[in-house]
Amino acid sequence: MAMNVMTDADARTALSEELAKYNSRVAQPDDPPLFTREPNSTMQACHWRSADLMTLLDKIGAALKLERGGTRRTLRLTNPGLPYGTTPTFWASIQYIRPGEIADAHRHTATALRFVMQGDGTDTIVDGDQYFMNENDLVLTPSWTWHDHEHKGDKPMIWLDVLDISLVRSLHATFFEGSETPRQQVNEVPDRSYRQFGSGIMRPMGSDAHQGPSPVLAYTWPRVEDAIMQASALEPNDFDDTFLEYQNPVTGGPALPTIGTAIQRLRPGFKGKPHKHTGSVVYYVVRGSGRSVMGDKTFDWARGDFLALPPWMAHSHANASDKDDAILFQVNDIPVLKALGLYREEAA
Ligand SMILES: [Fe+2]
Repeated sequence: MAMNVMTDADARTALSEELAKYNSRVAQPDDPPLFTREPNSTMQACHWRSADLMTLLDKIGAALKLERGGTRRTLRLTNPGLPYGTTPTFWASIQYIRPGEIADAHRHTATALRFVMQGDGTDTIVDGDQYFMNENDLVLTPSWTWHDHEHKGDKPMIWLDVLDISLVRSLHATFFEGSETPRQQVNEVPDRSYRQFGSGIMRPMGSDAHQGPSPVLAYTWPRVEDAIMQASALEPNDFDDTFLEYQNPVTGGPALPTIGTAIQRLRPGFKGKPHKHTGSVVYYVVRGSGRSVMGDKTFDWARGDFLALPPWMAHSHANASDKDDAILFQVNDIPVLKALGLYREEAA
């Protein structure tokens, strides 16, 4: 009499057809493991050089029109290890706008921000509040806020656009709405958000309703630069030197609930120690030059370059100069990891 020698693997395979009829399954022998011992991201460390990006931006600036109700003119930074997005949760793109152009009003559930790379003369209106953007300003467009831009200056303007679109898509929570009019009505009293929350130390009485995104529209560069230089007089952090996060002045939390934003200054001669953390990062070089090691890659960067760091990859940053500052702006998804209890960090 034949013994029943069916292995567990055989039993799993034998069941698969019947279970599939009921939209169900058991793990199959050739399935990849459900868990990895630690994060094993397919995202790759990347470096985009300013000169290459500027050439490409001139090309798309000449070739693509900014049409009413159409798609924004943006150069998306892609990652060869990902099917979608610059990182697992967000797209970093560079928007190019020519004098006289309007990027017309719309809103979406994806949270967005802008960091101005070059030029001035473009205003942005966010829920009626108008702001003329300047170099290195951070401007927030929180989830579902109306926003539009018009370039009233005389030279092309470019800025970094970040959207947590991969995250929102993975949650199937995408909403989008276009506007009947290209531009929004501007509030009668300008600078509403600045008047209410701009001091960062005082706020309107009873404004604890703001639990989500920061009510501040623009984090202007002179104030950010002053803050980082003040903090630089203190002892450096071993990994990142002086490292400040853009905050929501009402809650003390991150400026945006799903996208982290920070500035770091590497003082002349600084050589950071390697570490790793969960969460993905895109860096933009505001000033200076330096070297970052990410996993087995080494990137020598300069002003205007971008870098992308995958989750849980060992990395370190060094300033290439003994005389000049290096300043990096970064965007990350660390607020999401922290909110979900998934943030980890360790020396590498
Ligand atoms: Fe938008």
